[in-house]
Amino acid sequence: MNLLLESLFFIIPTYASNSCASLSLVIPKLKDWKSPIDFGHSWRGERILGKGKTFRGLIFGTICAIPAGFLQYYLAKHITFTYLSFFGSASLSKVLILAVLMGFGGLIGDIVKSFFKRRVGIKSGRPWPVFDQLDFIVGGILFGALIFFPPWKVVLTLVIVTPIAHLAANITAYFLKIKEVWW
Ligand code: CTP
Ligand code: MG
Repeated sequence: MNLLLESLFFIIPTYASNSCASLSLVIPKLKDWKSPIDFGHSWRGERILGKGKTFRGLIFGTICAIPAGFLQYYLAKHITFTYLSFFGSASLSKVLILAVLMGFGGLIGDIVKSFFKRRVGIKSGRPWPVFDQLDFIVGGILFGALIFFPPWKVVLTLVIVTPIAHLAANITAYFLKIKEVWW
């Protein structure tokens, strides 16, 4: 398979957890659970993380990485890998652990980004170009590296493709009224 498709295959759990964290805002019942990860606390007059980082998003997003891992495991049976030989032979449990790490890590990357975003004075929900788009893949790949780190070509491809995919997804979510802003 080619580099672009393998890169997208690799990052499925991280994309899934990030999308699910955002989707958790519109899912009935779930959306009413708004407990912020910073417990509403501020530091130097600014929220530590802000109201956009909730336990709901963190937990629901991480759970979404599990079906993503199953999907990868079963898809891998039909793929001949050029860059991701790991998936050609890995057991189901290894693929699932990698998926959960990549899903959870992506959300941690997003949380770390929000911490610095508040420190430089950008409000929750306002755009912070590049950082908003790359936070989750950096976190996902770093946490995933505990099990498997892909070739740099794959990392580079994701760095280039993710901002485009992220923007396309956000514009779609905006028109579907899932997101209030288009970025
Ligand atoms: N979300 C959540 N919990 C998370 C991550 C996201 O509940 N850990 C939900 C929030 O409702 C958030 C939405 O997904 O508003 C979009 O996520 P994101 O763009 O990451 O958050 P922002 O609201 O833009 O906040 P920030 O400026 O801190 O990135
Ligand atoms: Mg945002």
